[in-house]
Amino acid sequence: MNVDLLTLFPGMFQGAFSESILKHAADRGLLDVRIHNIRDFASDKHRVTDDYPYGGGVGMVMKVEPLAACIEYVRKDRPASTVILTTPRGKTLNQGMARELAQEDGLIIICGRYEGIDERVRDLFVDREISIGDFVLTGGEFASLVLVDAVTRLIPGVLGSDESAEDDSFSNGLLEYPQYTRPPEFRGLAVPPVLLSGNNREIARWRRRESLRRTFLVRPELLEAACLTAEDASYVKELRSCGGNAD
Ligand code: ADE
Repeated sequence: MNVDLLTLFPGMFQGAFSESILKHAADRGLLDVRIHNIRDFASDKHRVTDDYPYGGGVGMVMKVEPLAACIEYVRKDRPASTVILTTPRGKTLNQGMARELAQEDGLIIICGRYEGIDERVRDLFVDREISIGDFVLTGGEFASLVLVDAVTRLIPGVLGSDESAEDDSFSNGLLEYPQYTRPPEFRGLAVPPVLLSGNNREIARWRRRESLRRTFLVRPELLEAACLTAEDASYVKELRSCGGNAD
């Protein structure tokens, strides 16, 4: 997948793509990230990229001309890429959206800054506006990193089979069950005996129930949309009747 990041602060991306799974994906040719400095596309002497808002008000607005020039330059190489603007005004990112974006040929991601960007950038170029949550960051750079990370790990071949995305929280609409590794006891806390039993059927049942319990306690609204079996539904009923303390 091709990812083009359009930013006023290219230094913010240093490091992120030279570590761990993102680096591994790039080394294996599964991810090609290019970072473009929007300021390089400002044509005036002072390379101005922002200006006062028409109509007054606080803060500055990102100007349309440098952004338009930058997007058009990038799109010449990447005509099939989807243009995304990271902004708190967008649709909230979730696992389904990440899965959809992992199918795209490429992503051109505009990192918004200041109080906003000239609306004509949206009108002319932007296919999708994406927020990473109901809070406001200083700009779209970290949001873009979150987005690229969530999407990259879903590109076929990026995760090894032993780190598959299938058991992730949200992949089945529920939060993930608890995990343990050695030692079997630490500071008086023992690993649940079922996990040491070797009984795969019982282990799968315990994990499913723990997923349901966690989801019930932390994100009960997810249960409404999750795909539940009759056995799940009866366990959820039990959880409801005892406030999450069912066996
Ligand atoms: N820019 C500022 N806040 C943001 C958010 N919550 N999501 C995406 N981009 C942003």
